[in-house]
Amino acid sequence: MSTTPAFDMVLFGGTGDLVMRKILPALFESHRDGTLHPQGRILALGRKAATREQYLQQVEQQSRPHTRVESTDPSWIGFVERIDFLKLDSSQPADFEALARQLQGGDPQRVMVCYLATAPRLFTEICANLAAVGLNHPAVRVVLEKPLGNDLASSDAINSEVARHFGEQQIYRIDHYLGKESVQNLMAIRFGNVLFEPLWRRDWIDHVQITIAEELGVEGRGEFYEKTGALRDMLQNHLLQLLCMVAMEPPATLDADAIRDEKLKVLKALKPIGENEVPSRTVRGQYRAGAVDGKPVVAYQQEADVAKGSHTETFVAVKAEISNWRWSGVPFFLRTGKRMQERLAEIVISFRSVPLSLFAMPGGLQGANRLVIRLQPAERISLHFLAKEPGDGMRLQPTFLNLDFLSTSNRRRADAYERLLLDVIRGQLGLFMRRDELAAAWRWVEPILETWQRDPAEPKWYTAGTWGPAASSALLSRDGASWHEEL
Ligand code: BG6
Repeated sequence: MSTTPAFDMVLFGGTGDLVMRKILPALFESHRDGTLHPQGRILALGRKAATREQYLQQVEQQSRPHTRVESTDPSWIGFVERIDFLKLDSSQPADFEALARQLQGGDPQRVMVCYLATAPRLFTEICANLAAVGLNHPAVRVVLEKPLGNDLASSDAINSEVARHFGEQQIYRIDHYLGKESVQNLMAIRFGNVLFEPLWRRDWIDHVQITIAEELGVEGRGEFYEKTGALRDMLQNHLLQLLCMVAMEPPATLDADAIRDEKLKVLKALKPIGENEVPSRTVRGQYRAGAVDGKPVVAYQQEADVAKGSHTETFVAVKAEISNWRWSGVPFFLRTGKRMQERLAEIVISFRSVPLSLFAMPGGLQGANRLVIRLQPAERISLHFLAKEPGDGMRLQPTFLNLDFLSTSNRRRADAYERLLLDVIRGQLGLFMRRDELAAAWRWVEPILETWQRDPAEPKWYTAGTWGPAASSALLSRDGASWHEEL
């Protein structure tokens, strides 16, 4: 049974990679589940003229392979019927008039989602042109893809322009990490159980590690990546949002603003990293040639559209601290990198050692109590602790309790985009970033970016297919800690 209202999903950048690889397959899965209202329509927009049939051919070639069905599958045939195509140049007001006509002026009772899967520099003109033809009435929602700006000033400028035409309640700033099942689960585990809450604080937690490692390189996006780098691409948004989910206080309700208020408090409490602390609290790395999964791969500087001698970071590690009563003194080590040894996203909560050790233990086992929340690839939670080694004597050995979410339920897991798109259609803002959160995140990362920009030193090199530069391990060892995979 459909659980969304009737809607028009208008896809700006409708012929682009994001729409083909993520958005259409996500909408298809909801269609197949019967979640989408029968009157839900998808209107893809593209700069180049094409007929509906030509567009559908592109969808068949570039999007359907990302679903698990054949083109003859009745569910796919039914889905394709929802799709239409319109040529639109975002700088041409007349094209927006045509859009309004196609949507019959935009029924103010009917939900209209404008997904801006375009370069962010087009956001302001798209929003202004939508408003000029009246397509900014309260039932219209705009979805803004990241990266939203390059720094605080440019992100603020985009947000102010968009805010001239749309209210904050109409703006959905997407961070797809928040749509991941396991991130939702983190909320459930923290706030649905009493077990961890008493331990979830500085008295019992030694440090927290958050890793998003990718095997992929820049995948033909060299030009974008050169200007962006890992800090802007992943840390400013995904890693900081995960940090908020770990560190936030329980919200009073599940209302969007109750959750976002708590996340904002965490972002505002992040201890600034001053220029003179950047060398000791951050690591800027870049991969050299190596092998990933047994296959040789080139260095970042050999990728297309990447400058020789580029200092753009493909790896970043940061020691963050939160200045509040719950977390003061607890380091949060964040890291992300391209071309690393494995694809892995994981949060590790590392508890303190026992005050007095009664048992013979190899050194590395001090502080062996860890809660490991694996977000991907295989979603699971494991609790690591020490137990007696069987047999004579009293020696301890590490062991763990494993909760594998894939085996606890055989229900299909929704992809992040699928969940987030349904939330937009239903008008649920909780998993989207509010403007003040975004600004607070930029404010914190900006001094790091600026210091790096002024610094002539080369990035720290790492071989593709490893866990990053040696400096990343040193960042933790200064606090007597090690990355989880090194234990
Ligand atoms: C995107 C980044 O936001 O996240 C990409 O722009 C990155 O560079 C991607 O590859 C990673 O997402 P996921 O869901 O595959 O971990």
